[in-house]
Amino acid sequence: MPFSALLRPAMLAASRSPRMERTITRIPTTKKLVDRFVAGDSADQAVAAVEALLGSGRYVTIDYLGEDTTEIEQARTTVTHYLHMLSALGRLNSTAETESVRPLEVSLKLSALGQSLPRDGHAIALEHAHRICAAAAEAGVWVNIDAEDHTTTDSTLGIVRELRGEFPSLGTVLQAYLRRTEGDCRELSGEGSRIRLCKGAYKEPASVAYQDRAEVDASYLRCLRVLMLGDGYPMVATHDPALIEAARECVETTHRKPDEFEFQMLYGIRDAEQRRLVDEGNHLRVYVPYGDQWYGYFMRRLAERPANVAFFLRSLKPG
Ligand code: FDA
Repeated sequence: MPFSALLRPAMLAASRSPRMERTITRIPTTKKLVDRFVAGDSADQAVAAVEALLGSGRYVTIDYLGEDTTEIEQARTTVTHYLHMLSALGRLNSTAETESVRPLEVSLKLSALGQSLPRDGHAIALEHAHRICAAAAEAGVWVNIDAEDHTTTDSTLGIVRELRGEFPSLGTVLQAYLRRTEGDCRELSGEGSRIRLCKGAYKEPASVAYQDRAEVDASYLRCLRVLMLGDGYPMVATHDPALIEAARECVETTHRKPDEFEFQMLYGIRDAEQRRLVDEGNHLRVYVPYGDQWYGYFMRRLAERPANVAFFLRSLKPG
């Protein structure tokens, strides 16, 4: 088994370990690498990054970092952060172009809004997401609900279904590594739907998820085709050159226009490719995370690429 295949599960296990979190977040040089993937600790820093991205023709989706919240107060604080960000984005948006595709979006993790609270987690997350969706609608900003580990998928899709009655533009994420996802794509590719398709970033058992990279890629291609043939708005979230090429072919064969799909990438990853896709006339949205709860997000980014881990380890060497 290649080293990278062993490293990924170890890094993903570490991403959920409070002990590892205490250790890694105390290392002074960690923050330097975090800054590559995270737009800053404060809302002001995130807004500055957003303005720069909009200025380069890219669209954005902004995530206030945090997940697996175990305290109701923390979930409420997360809502407050989103409301504050939305009023800042509302001011930006007044000067942005208005068209069928919104340049500004926020991404929410329901576990940060209380979904994993032991009592009434589903209902609390629904209520919190509803408040954010209402404020976003006022500000002219789209909302997307992120996908987390597979134990949350049914609850998350249930909340999305419920909210879409009132907020039809609400989007969500489907993860190609889950065996169920091709079926979910069929169900969710109807008119008005906005589905972000990604490979999937969590450590999942073989009973629910493909483990082999080639199998994940094959599933991504099947799901992509279903979404492109459907009536919704597919959001192709990947940095993988082979999948980007496949998406372009799919766009051609399904005769989709530039306003009928978009590419998405993460902040700090493949910047030149992001710009190239924009120069070609595509919509490209960047996922912009901010806040000081960066540990889980950062560890998943390290897990995706052995070179990132090597870079991190080298940064720990003194001198
Ligand atoms: P892959 O990992 O095979 O990478 C392909 C190439 O991209 C690499 O060879 C490298 O060049 C580059 N690359 C990829 N990751 C890199 C990194 N961390 N650092 C540097 N280079 C890197 N997942 C999830 O479970 N739930 C979610 O809600 C989301 N949301 C989301 C939004 C957006 C906009 C994106 C782009 C991704 C997500 N993801 C996600 C993460 C996703 O599931 C997946 O883990 C990463 O995108 C990495 O997979 P790729 O498709 O990029 O391919």
